[in-house]
Amino acid sequence: MRDLTWADPFDEQAREILRRNDKGRYTIPTAGLYPYQWNWDSAFAAIGFAEFDLDRAWREIETLFEGQWDNGMVPHILFHVPDEGYFPSHDVWKGTGPVASSGISQPPVAAAMARQIFERDPEVGAQRMAGLFDKMVAWHRWFINWRLDRGAVCITHPWEAGRDNAPDWDVAMAAITPEGVGDYKRRDTSHVDSSMRPTKYDYDRYVWLVQRGARMGWNEALMLEDTPFRVADPTMTFTLLRSMRDLAAIGRIMGRDINDFTGWIATLEEGAATLWNDDLGCYDSRDVRSGTWANAISNASFLCWYAGLDTAGMRDIYANVQAQVKYGVPSLSPQDDRFDSKRYWRGPVWGVMNLMIGLGLTEMGLEAEGEALRASTADLIAEHGFAEYFDPMDGSPAGGSSFTWTAAIWLGWASPNARGK
Ligand code: SER
Repeated sequence: MRDLTWADPFDEQAREILRRNDKGRYTIPTAGLYPYQWNWDSAFAAIGFAEFDLDRAWREIETLFEGQWDNGMVPHILFHVPDEGYFPSHDVWKGTGPVASSGISQPPVAAAMARQIFERDPEVGAQRMAGLFDKMVAWHRWFINWRLDRGAVCITHPWEAGRDNAPDWDVAMAAITPEGVGDYKRRDTSHVDSSMRPTKYDYDRYVWLVQRGARMGWNEALMLEDTPFRVADPTMTFTLLRSMRDLAAIGRIMGRDINDFTGWIATLEEGAATLWNDDLGCYDSRDVRSGTWANAISNASFLCWYAGLDTAGMRDIYANVQAQVKYGVPSLSPQDDRFDSKRYWRGPVWGVMNLMIGLGLTEMGLEAEGEALRASTADLIAEHGFAEYFDPMDGSPAGGSSFTWTAAIWLGWASPNARGK
């Protein structure tokens, strides 16, 4: 058996990255490229902190919820301190919450990560969740109120799913003519090679959608009328389903009212079934406006186990995709013509997706697959560093470096010393 001390220096490096990106009450994903607090990045950061500083782990999530809007929405970016290095800034977003913010949300993983942290010390967990529980319920309710299509959770902007340039939105993006978007200066490509980032075609539409939301004051009812972009997506549907189950479990322990959860979970399970693309034989994204499938076997498709769903056929598809790459799980099947091994969400491997897929596999009784994914993610990071994402064919690092969420999932799951694995 391999001596586990090989991982100790990497544990130290990961802790050092979290400390470096720590702004006191929140963590930035990486300096330069992402200088603010991001929603799901913070939730994952918390499981990294939980390995060595439980109080700091809870603080990360608490700071995120300080940005919650009156309608329950928790924004995808909180602009705590202005920074020239990122576009679009709050001046463009004009988010209306208590903290300067964007106007869209992000995959709701906070409750699921909170449950992991809760279990480290249930007494402390109950104290910290006392202030967070209702806020998380309100956020989940916001998704149910505003974002469902036949029970599946929809996004209103590609950034909402966190998988910015995934082919899942190609049909919806093509239907947008970004008229009047005007001149703007991207900042991302001054930090990272443009071949690893979304294209100008993508950005014109991203910015156009932001300008539309800002013009409407981010009023959900108004934005829903004649919406130009609405895609039902496995990332949102599976992560919300999982977080509903985890929040209900925490609520049960704390003696909270969890009556609404039964109906919400049933609705989301029905919604998940509407994401099954029979021709593809896989979970897929559905463009609500045109009724068109994306026909994309993505790493979000494999979040089904994490959501507690073990669907016939998914195991074989997973094995087939994994067999084509050196390091899984690729964000798009390499057999797809749209696969691009280095371009953000059109091919690269993302550690946080691996964490959720791996936990799901293990919990649903596929222990060998779950452990294989954990071990290969550990090798990938140990061999290629704490990058934002990686080329699945050779492991080469891509995007930003010294990345918070890669360090966090190393500490909380991938490292052989992790307690959460
Ligand atoms: N991922 C987006 C970006 O790259 C924002 O969430 O800026």
